[in-house]
Amino acid sequence: MAREIGTVGVVGLGTMGAGIAEVLARHGLDVVAVDADDARVEHGRGLVERSTSRAVARGKLAGEDRQALIGRIRFTAALDDLAAAELVVEAVPERLDLKREVFGRLDSVVAPTAILATNTSSLSVAEIAAATRQPSRVVGLHFFNPAPVQRLVEVVRTVVTEPSVVEDAVALARRLGKLPVVVGDRAGFIANALLFGYLNNAVRMYEQGHVGREDLDAAMTLGCGLPMGPLALLDLIGLDTALQILETMYGQSKDRLHAPAPLLRQMVAAGLLGRKSGRGFYRYASDEPSPVAGNGAEPLASPRGHSRSMRTVGVVGSGAKAMRLAQTAAVAGSDVVLVASDAEQVVLVVERIRRSLDKDVQARLLADEERYAAFDRIRGTARLGDVADAGVVVAAVDEEPPAVRSLFEELGRVCRPGAVLATGGSAAVIECAAASGRPSDVVGMHVVDASPGGGLVEVVSTVATSAEAVAVALALCERLGLRAVRCGDRAGFVVDALLFPYLNDAARMLSEGYATADDIDTAMVAGCGYPKGPFEVLDAMGLDVALATQRALYAQSREPGHAPAPLLEQLVAVGFLGTSTARGFRTYA
Ligand code: CAA
Repeated sequence: MAREIGTVGVVGLGTMGAGIAEVLARHGLDVVAVDADDARVEHGRGLVERSTSRAVARGKLAGEDRQALIGRIRFTAALDDLAAAELVVEAVPERLDLKREVFGRLDSVVAPTAILATNTSSLSVAEIAAATRQPSRVVGLHFFNPAPVQRLVEVVRTVVTEPSVVEDAVALARRLGKLPVVVGDRAGFIANALLFGYLNNAVRMYEQGHVGREDLDAAMTLGCGLPMGPLALLDLIGLDTALQILETMYGQSKDRLHAPAPLLRQMVAAGLLGRKSGRGFYRYASDEPSPVAGNGAEPLASPRGHSRSMRTVGVVGSGAKAMRLAQTAAVAGSDVVLVASDAEQVVLVVERIRRSLDKDVQARLLADEERYAAFDRIRGTARLGDVADAGVVVAAVDEEPPAVRSLFEELGRVCRPGAVLATGGSAAVIECAAASGRPSDVVGMHVVDASPGGGLVEVVSTVATSAEAVAVALALCERLGLRAVRCGDRAGFVVDALLFPYLNDAARMLSEGYATADDIDTAMVAGCGYPKGPFEVLDAMGLDVALATQRALYAQSREPGHAPAPLLEQLVAVGFLGTSTARGFRTYA
C-alpha cells in the first residue's frame, strides 16, 4: 500500500535543499528543514524567504500563501528532528563521503518505513544506499535548479530499490506538480549526462579564447533558443557542483570530453563559485540574481564608422539567408547587388523579396514608401562581376567546399581592392581566404538564424583576417539588426560546435538503452528549459545534416567522444532522415 506522506525532511539547505523545501511546503507538506549548524539553517531560511518573495512580486504566489508556506517549514540544526518524517530528501554538497555519513545517521533517526531519497546529481545512489542498513528504501530524487521552476524530477532506482519506494517517490513528485522520469543509477542520469558535456565544452571554448563570454552565451540563447547561455547556467548551478559532477562523470565514462576544463578547477579553487558566491563567470550584485556586465574581460570593438563600405552591399546566393540579408540591407539604405546562379533564379529570388516586403508592410513593420525604396535598391543579376563596386560582399551559399573555393577565387579577382569578402557558409573560412588570394579581406559571416525577428551571425576571423575586415562585418551586422558573435575559425564555429556533440550524445544514450527518446526529450525540456528535446531537433533538421556536421567536427577535433553515434550513421544509411522522410528517431504519420 502506498505510504501516506505528510511530513518530509530536507537535509542540507543550500540552493537545491532550500528550493526543494519551498516546493514541498508550497504543496501542503510539512517540512523539517535541517542543516549542520545555526548559521547554515539561517542561510537556508533566507534563501526560501527571498525566493518566495520574488514569487509574490511576480504574481506566482499570494502574500498570505507565502506566510503559510514558510509556516509549514520547521528550520532546525538537529537531525533528530526528522524522526517523524515519512520521507527525507538529502541535498548536502556533492561528496560521496558526506552523503554516506548523512545516510548512515538518517538510517537510525527515521522510522523503518520511511523513504530516504538523495538529490545527488551524479553520484551512485547505490553507493549512498550502501551506507544504510536497509538500502531497498533508498531512491534518487533529483530536482533541477531552480527547483520551484524546473518541472523535471529524475527518480533514480538502484538495483535494490523496492518498487513501492519508486512508486511513492513518483507519486510525491507528481503531487508537487513535477514531471517524474524513472531512470537507472548511472552518472549524470539523463539530463546532466547530456548537459555537462556541453557545458564543459563551452568552458573550454571560452578558456581557449575562441569566443568571449557574452558572445558565447548569446550564441546559445539566440542561436538555439536556450533559456540561458552555458556560462550563465554554470554560475546558476554553482561551479563547485559542476566540477564535482564532471569529475564523477569522467570517473565513469573516461571520456575526455567530461574531464573538467582546467579553468573550472581554477575558478573553484579561487572561490569563484557563481551566483552563490557573488562571482563566477559573471559578477552578481548581492540581492540581484542577474549578471552584472563589466567583469573586465572583453573590450567591445566599435563597429561604427564603416558606412562607406556599406553603400553598396553584394549578396551571393538565392536561399533564405541570402534573401534576408539582401532585403534587410536594402531596407537599411544600402544599394544591393544580389547575385543568383542564373537568370531564372534571379527572377525567382527578386520576386520572393518583393512578396516578403509586401508582408512586412501588411504586418506594419515597414511603411509603404519604404517598401518601394528598398525594392528599388535591389539589383538582381547572374553575373558575379556586377559586385565589383561593393564595399562588402557576403556569399550566403552553403555549397560543397570546391564550389565555395572557386567562388572566392573569382570574388578575389572581381571585387575592388579593400572590399571585404564574407563567407556565410559553414565551411572553413580559411579555405575561402586562401582561395581569394587576399586573405586579410576575408571574414566569416555565418548566419545562424535568419528567421524574421531572429538574427544571429557568427563573425569569424582567421589567422589572416584584418581588424578592418572584422570591423566592417560587425558594422554590417549592426546595420542589419543582427546580433554578431565574434569567434575563431574552427569547425562548427560556436553554435554547431556546441550543439551537435550534445545531439550526438543523446543518440548514443538512446542506443545504450538507458532511456527512451521521449524520456530524453522530456528531461531536456522540463529539466533545463530547452525549447525542444534533442530527438525533436534531430528529426526536424534532418539526420543527414546532423551526421555531416558531426563528421566535420570529428574530423577536426579527433576527439573519440565526437565520433558520430553508430545509431545516427545507421538511420542515415537506411534513409531514415527525420520528418522529411516520415521516419527518423521517431516515426511520423
Ligand atoms: N516559485 C514559483 N515560480 C517562480 C519562482 C518561485 N519561487 N521563482 C521564479 N518563478 C517563475 C517566474 O515567475 C517566471 O515565471 P513566468 O515565466 O511565468 O513569468 C519563471 O519562474 C522564470 O523566472 P524568472 O522570470 O525569475 O527568470 P527567467 O525568465 O530569467 O528564467 C530560469 C530563469 C528559470 C532560471 C531560466 O533561465 C531557465 O530555465 N534556465 C535554465 C535552467 C536550467 O538549465 N536548470 C537546470 C540546471 S542543471 C541542474 O539543476 C541539475 C543539477 O544537478 C546541477
